[in-house]
Amino acid sequence: MYKHSFKHSAILFVLLAISSFLQFHAFAEEVPAYKGPLVMVKSKDATKIYIANHDGKEISILDVNTDKVVGTIPLGKKPNGIILSADGKTLYVTSGGYGGVVQAIDLSSGKKIAEVETGHTPTDGVVTPDGKKLYVCNRFNADVSEFDLPELKLVRKIKAVREPRGAVVTPDGKKVYVINGTPNDVNNVPENENAQIIVSSLVTVIDVPSGTTTNIRLPNGSGSLHGVTITPDGRYIFITEVLARFQIPTTHLERGWVNTSGVSIIDTTKSNEPNGGFLTTVLLDDVYQGAANPWGITTSSDGKLFCAAIAGTSEVITVDVDKMIAKINTLKPDSENVGGWSTGKTTYISDVTNDLAFLVDIKKRFKLEGKGARPVVMIGNNAYVGMYFSDTVQKIDISVARSKPVDIPLGSKPVLTAVRRGEMHWNDASAGFCFQSWHSCASCHPDGRMDAYNWDLLNDGMGNPKNAKSLVWCQKSPPAMWTGVRATSEVCTRTGFQYILFAPPNEAVCKDIDEYVHSLEPELSPYLVNGKLSAKAERGKKIFEDKKVGCVTCHPAPLFTDKKLHDVNSKVYFDHGKTDFDTPTLVEIWRTAPYMHDGRYNDLKDVFKKGKHGDVEGDIESLTDQQLDDLVEYLLSL
Ligand code: HEC
Ligand code: HEC
Repeated sequence: MYKHSFKHSAILFVLLAISSFLQFHAFAEEVPAYKGPLVMVKSKDATKIYIANHDGKEISILDVNTDKVVGTIPLGKKPNGIILSADGKTLYVTSGGYGGVVQAIDLSSGKKIAEVETGHTPTDGVVTPDGKKLYVCNRFNADVSEFDLPELKLVRKIKAVREPRGAVVTPDGKKVYVINGTPNDVNNVPENENAQIIVSSLVTVIDVPSGTTTNIRLPNGSGSLHGVTITPDGRYIFITEVLARFQIPTTHLERGWVNTSGVSIIDTTKSNEPNGGFLTTVLLDDVYQGAANPWGITTSSDGKLFCAAIAGTSEVITVDVDKMIAKINTLKPDSENVGGWSTGKTTYISDVTNDLAFLVDIKKRFKLEGKGARPVVMIGNNAYVGMYFSDTVQKIDISVARSKPVDIPLGSKPVLTAVRRGEMHWNDASAGFCFQSWHSCASCHPDGRMDAYNWDLLNDGMGNPKNAKSLVWCQKSPPAMWTGVRATSEVCTRTGFQYILFAPPNEAVCKDIDEYVHSLEPELSPYLVNGKLSAKAERGKKIFEDKKVGCVTCHPAPLFTDKKLHDVNSKVYFDHGKTDFDTPTLVEIWRTAPYMHDGRYNDLKDVFKKGKHGDVEGDIESLTDQQLDDLVEYLLSL
């Protein structure tokens, strides 16, 4: 009997071993099931939090009384944003890239009741307080869809500026403020070396009744806008951003001379004033300790605090709104700042953007566990923060100094692939990754692309700033950097840690980052029609491929670069006599303005009209305006 059962269990053991071997292999080939909490909203009665798990393609429902996930709504698509209806009964979920959709989910049944196409990479949005309108930001169409509710019927598309990411509405329902994630300016004016360069993101204000828009310009250097919130009384709007001091060489990293983390403030009662009520930008960093990559932001229900999630350092920072506004009100407005010079005795509102001590005693920093602090909501004294890479929610009582967070897992502990780890490091500015935690690779290369600024890096000497590059396919087209000074992109990663982040490069970290960078693939262009080249772009393709025009000599498909340096007569006064630049790939060029090594053109057509891509052999100059339009349409479709 004993013998028999032993034999039996031996067979069972072998079977188990085989099946676990098979399982292991199946697992190794599958992409691990991450959750990736990206956006959160609380239920109307504040008893639940709905969490959009981007990678999990689902909504997790968190019960705040038990701190447990009590339900899951599968979506079948990767959510980018969630917006609650005014009555709290329906959740509008945006998802997808090219051809992205809004799904309406009935919260009582958890069932999808409608799905409508909205645009390329719909992000967040807002429902008006009367519940009759939904606005959704279409990131790569640079517009906002206006839907009638409850039908979820598209009424119109309203132009924003660039990469709109989120929106708030005033309590009277009259104005929607949309944050544009990326600046849309030129970085250099080659013909005028004394020109003042302003590069910053804009906030688009939609007048709800008419659908007309105006724009508010944020301070020079405001970019990578991620979060926006409005106080319950509708008076103040707070926006998280990376405040780039792009005029300063990156050697000056200490004390926030390169990248800082700002919250821009708009006073909605001053919307008729020259800059639409923009008040100032406060810094979340401390003098010797950056708070890199601020992401989500929310206000407490009494409006007394705002609370920001800091992705680069795994923190939340709360700021006392009344004290901050009172302090701002003690400052002189800039209109009295004659000639733009402060007297040394008086502080003007614009000085605040450089004052790392302005919020001392007004803000509090709380450390979180895990990585990727992105969305945040507040319920009572608790802040709940979604940790994108750890698949958890961190709950922290912000009324108690140095309080310890409670960890709420959204699923099993994620097993990170090298690519996922690389992406995590890419966004990490904590100790060991960046000296004083001022920035990470993602601060200048959000999503592995570019921040649209010129930076004066050490790679090619000082005093010659270069337009930040997208890293899509950079490993396939060595050499790297505009001047080709680095043999490969992998070298740039190591030197990036050494000379931009001033943290010794850790080889294991760099290897993971290599994997992440190699995994980047271009998104489909918003200029494609049903995923294909338009008739106009087809005409442009013929021109591009015409040997007489000459583009293909230096930009041959499939990489659209011959991987060589050329002189296209593009040098400027600060290039120290350097004439040859690395031929860039043209893939995803619809996304990467401004153009050329010094970011001098914002409009792609200017590369050929103003620059004429000078002195290259070929017929560029003989192209008619119509042919140029066609050519540009093709380039924008790549
Ligand atoms: C302060 C902004 C900034 C930060 C931070 C930054 N970069 Fe860059 N990066 C740039 C700019 C600007 C360029 C283009 C410079 C040039 O071509 O001379 C660039 C170029 C690159 C390139 C070359 C791409 C190509 O196709 O030639 C790679 C690779 C790169 N960066 C990786 C990284 C990594 C990895 C990190 C983090 C360790 C990082 N960068 C941090 C601004 C930044
Ligand atoms: C002799 C080689 C050569 C030829 C021919 C050439 N290019 Fe270029 N192209 C370059 C180089 C080099 C640069 C980068 C110059 C710089 O940054 O100053 C560049 C830059 C560009 C850019 C800007 C890319 C960016 O990311 O900023 C575009 C767009 C472009 N070329 C398109 C074209 C088209 C279209 C044609 C044909 C009409 C063409 N080029 C012909 C070498 C060439």
